[in-house]
Amino acid sequence: MLNWDEFHEDETSVAEQPAKAAPAPAAKPQPAAAPGGEVKESSGSYKVAESDRLARARRSLEELDVAAGLEELEMGAARIEVDDKQMINARADLNQLVPFKYEWAWQKYLDGSANHWMPQEVNMNADIALWKSQEGLSADERRIVMRSLGYFSTADSLVANNLVLALYRLITNPECRQYLLRQAFEEAIHTHAYQYCVESLGMDEGEVFNMYREVPSVAAKSAWSLKHTQSLARPDFNTGTPETDQELLRNLIAFYSVTEGIFFYCGFSQILSMGRRNKMTGVAEQFQYILRDESMHLNFGVDMINQIKIENPHLWTPAFQDEVTQMILEGTELEIAYARDSMPRGVLGMNAAIMEEYLHFICNRRLAQIGLKEQFPGAQNPFPWMSEIIDLRKEKNFFETRVTEYQVGGALSWD
Ligand SMILES: [Fe+2]
Ligand SMILES: [Fe+2]
Repeated sequence: MLNWDEFHEDETSVAEQPAKAAPAPAAKPQPAAAPGGEVKESSGSYKVAESDRLARARRSLEELDVAAGLEELEMGAARIEVDDKQMINARADLNQLVPFKYEWAWQKYLDGSANHWMPQEVNMNADIALWKSQEGLSADERRIVMRSLGYFSTADSLVANNLVLALYRLITNPECRQYLLRQAFEEAIHTHAYQYCVESLGMDEGEVFNMYREVPSVAAKSAWSLKHTQSLARPDFNTGTPETDQELLRNLIAFYSVTEGIFFYCGFSQILSMGRRNKMTGVAEQFQYILRDESMHLNFGVDMINQIKIENPHLWTPAFQDEVTQMILEGTELEIAYARDSMPRGVLGMNAAIMEEYLHFICNRRLAQIGLKEQFPGAQNPFPWMSEIIDLRKEKNFFETRVTEYQVGGALSWD
């Protein structure tokens, strides 16, 4: 165990002690002399020795060439104007947040931060009792809870990894990067929330966390997303040609419009429907906060995609529009297959056919949001309560008071 006296010893003198030195004498230790033998008296009660390391650090700073460190920033160049900024392939200084060009990005960063929450703040006691009781949930309801936690427990990691390892360096705008950092942290909170549910309910974590490569309907969605991260995460990938810029757009559409915009919606509506029936209300409350975060991620992604289109209209060719329409249709089909697998029979006032109509409605919205033609004309929303949850005071401070107070004030309303 460390002795407080040892903290007064100079690092050099400690390093020079033999391995089995006798205990330091109780008397005040003598600091090692600096190369010049000088020991400076500090203003406090202790002395600072000019060690070799400190002397080397000071010499190194004297030799520091500030201009070389900032070489790529064009020392003395004109100050950045708003018009110098752009979403991709910008040449403006990326270390400088202001002046803002995209106010929507900064506003979403503020809104996301205002909605901060943590999984441990949700009371899971009723869920634990229900999950452990024999008659609490039907086999079909249990299957939905397992499938949802199985898919989401890794899906949010896929999204976070895509943000950090593939997307971040290619979005060349500081206010968008500020939101991406916020989003990345929110994805970490979501993964934490799923882990917290799995742990609270005493589930087999190996079964849940491996579902993305063991259950075909879950694996297919995860593999579809991962494919788009792999293409951008190559160290030699860079934007700057029409082909690579389109590859970046494919990634944005694969993650924001499809992964976060479609793949989350069957599981979210199933779990929220359970919560509305007063079952697994803690898990459902976690999902409700996550859904609100996700709706902002989706809106941010849509804004990014549309802004890149405005700044680079040559990328949005008819052939490319066809291709990304097909991507969104593929995502919809994968989610319908997941709905059939997770819901082999009617349950919670839903069934796979009703979910298919809902997903057609969602698909139309994802297409329309980025200016593409709807593929399922007339599809209706069979779950209007989902829109109410998502749209409820969207992008405002959802929690009128500190997030911890909702425990005291009771759970969220499911009406
Ligand atoms: Fe998430
Ligand atoms: Fe997200």
